[in-house]
Amino acid sequence: MTGVAVSARVDAAAATQGRPVRPLCRRALDLAGPGDGRLALDLGCGRGVEASAMLAEGWRVWALDRAPGAGELVRAGVAGAERLTVVRGALQDVELPAAELVHASYSLPFLPPADFGPVWQRVRGSLAPGGLLAVTLFGAGDTRHDRTDLTLLGRRQARELFLGLEVLAFDDRAAEGTRAGGGSEGPGRVFEVIARRMR
Ligand SMILES: C[S@@+](CC[C@H](N)C(=O)[O-])C[C@H]1O[C@@H](n2cnc3c(N)ncnc32)[C@H](O)[C@@H]1O
Repeated sequence: MTGVAVSARVDAAAATQGRPVRPLCRRALDLAGPGDGRLALDLGCGRGVEASAMLAEGWRVWALDRAPGAGELVRAGVAGAERLTVVRGALQDVELPAAELVHASYSLPFLPPADFGPVWQRVRGSLAPGGLLAVTLFGAGDTRHDRTDLTLLGRRQARELFLGLEVLAFDDRAAEGTRAGGGSEGPGRVFEVIARRMR
């Protein structure tokens, strides 16, 4: 067996066993019901843990990430991998297909603020009627920040992103590692939101 094949197998195991599926994605999958061949997007898919969970629920999965090799890891060892399309590219550049489930955990906040709005329009535009959107966003909290590499939103700004959608969950919690009293330049809050496009 070649070194590449061994490494692909080990990586596939890591992709599925390295950590549990994110609760946000799990909730969205439970709300959406069986995939039955419908299309789900995983934007900023990382190693592909959530993409694997989507495949296991019967979805076709279109996974996007700009990192070399991201998402590819699930191809090797996951049942249903023939229903997976991995696209390597930036959220800013790639057209998104219409989908019944659009998931983006811990990826959209890494857009620079100038890029967030146009990408958000495309993310919303990709949602098929009746489709579910499940995203993590970062909140600035009470902390002052001058980050130009992250999009940090006020709570009201975050809520406004979902105008016109039915918001099923809007969880707002302190970001891990945030010190009491602020002072951090990172996100103060994490918003996890699930919303549905009306039919
Ligand atoms: C913190 S990881 C999250 C990965 C996975 N979704 C999770 O929940 O663990 C952020 C991922 O988003 C990807 N990413 C960040 N900005 C991106 C962009 N502009 N276009 C495409 N992928 C991006 C990174 O390469 C990385 O894999």
